[in-house]
Amino acid sequence: MSTVKRQWPKRHDLAPLVQFTRPELSAKKRRLEKALTIEDLRRVAKRRTPRAAFDYTDGAADGEVSLARAREAFADVEFVPSILRDVSSVDTSREVLGERVALPLGIAPTGFTRMMHTEGEIAGATAAEAAGIPFVLSTMGTTSIEDVAAAAQGGRKWFQLYMWKDRDRSMALVDRAAKAGYDTLLVTVDVPVAGARLRDVRNGMTIPPRLSARTVANAIPRPAWWINFLTTEPLAFASLDSWSGTVAELLDTMFDPTVTFEDLAWIREQWPGKVSVKGVQSLADAHRLADAGVDAIVLSNHGGRQLDRAPVPFHLLPEVVKEIGGDLEVHLDTGIMSGQDIVAAVAHGAHFTLIGRAYLYGLMAGGRDGVDRAIEILRGQIERTMQLLGVRTLDELEPGHVRVLQRVAPRF
Ligand SMILES: Cc1cc2nc3c(=O)[nH]c(=O)nc-3n(C[C@H](O)[C@H](O)[C@H](O)COP(=O)(O)O)c2cc1C
Repeated sequence: MSTVKRQWPKRHDLAPLVQFTRPELSAKKRRLEKALTIEDLRRVAKRRTPRAAFDYTDGAADGEVSLARAREAFADVEFVPSILRDVSSVDTSREVLGERVALPLGIAPTGFTRMMHTEGEIAGATAAEAAGIPFVLSTMGTTSIEDVAAAAQGGRKWFQLYMWKDRDRSMALVDRAAKAGYDTLLVTVDVPVAGARLRDVRNGMTIPPRLSARTVANAIPRPAWWINFLTTEPLAFASLDSWSGTVAELLDTMFDPTVTFEDLAWIREQWPGKVSVKGVQSLADAHRLADAGVDAIVLSNHGGRQLDRAPVPFHLLPEVVKEIGGDLEVHLDTGIMSGQDIVAAVAHGAHFTLIGRAYLYGLMAGGRDGVDRAIEILRGQIERTMQLLGVRTLDELEPGHVRVLQRVAPRF
């Protein structure tokens, strides 16, 4: 027989246990609050976005090996904490290209952003402004240079340049960006030709998406996206004329496979602000850029969307920082899906990082609110990881805080 003595629950014992919270009436808010990680946002995004647009964002080139390896490299990080430090408050800010940013991350340039969600670049730029981080507008953006500047007047804006076959038009863009108050030019150098985005080919992806029997069937469970798409300004490029071919055709017509270091020097002369070069994938090229006097480089393989089986930027980082980290700022992107990834990159010497898909998943999951949520998730993860590692500032993070499991770390 049980010896437990039982009694009727009393009202004053029950009261503290019963805490009815007011139900959240906005379905969007509920959806976003439930998302605790960027992967959660990705799942919501997938449910709500037509397949062609989702795959265009989520996919990479060829076998998608570059992207998978970059993410795996972060997953294989082992953190080494320091104990018994006062970490009651942490400071995640630092000076990047001459100005303070609140977090060691910015929003990477992405093309066709209004196809993922109609709020597009404006959502990204205003969320970045609110968070105190830079927003980078792409040459292939779907909101004009001036409209982004007007929407986020107090925010820090950088402009990403693809050199076009037509140099005068490229320079006209650069002029507009300078006049509109963009302080940094990010020159992307890893697209001499378009990468082979097989998902886009298989989906028959066009810009803008065409209504075929297949896309209509795919639209039925995703009415919100289509209502937004059909009732807002038609998709057009910030800086380009209208186009109705495939993405790969557009890129191939647009980009110039003859661009060289000499052209970069020419661009450098045209631009009054800071210059960063994105898509650096070898120590030798990093050296050449340091000699060319650029202010920053971004170790990046374009989120795995260009050369497949490219070097993992995180693996390249330590030797680049060691050799030229004193001459310029070394930034990094590709594969970042959490604040822990960012902390690991900073510990290994990345001065700053850019996030592409991590913010686009938020955008597709809930427009501006979704981007806010993505940044909030990353901020929380960065702060908590710093506290658990026993560091209070980004400068206190050092390579000793991060080991990498041997099987994927030939360079460490
Ligand atoms: C949908 C999409 C569009 C992109 N468009 C551009 C672009 O127009 N210009 C550019 O320099 N990089 C572009 N990128 C690359 C990003 O700037 C960044 O290098 C990459 O997304 C980083 O990898 P992550 O997505 O794993 O964070 C694009 C990336 C994605 C996912």
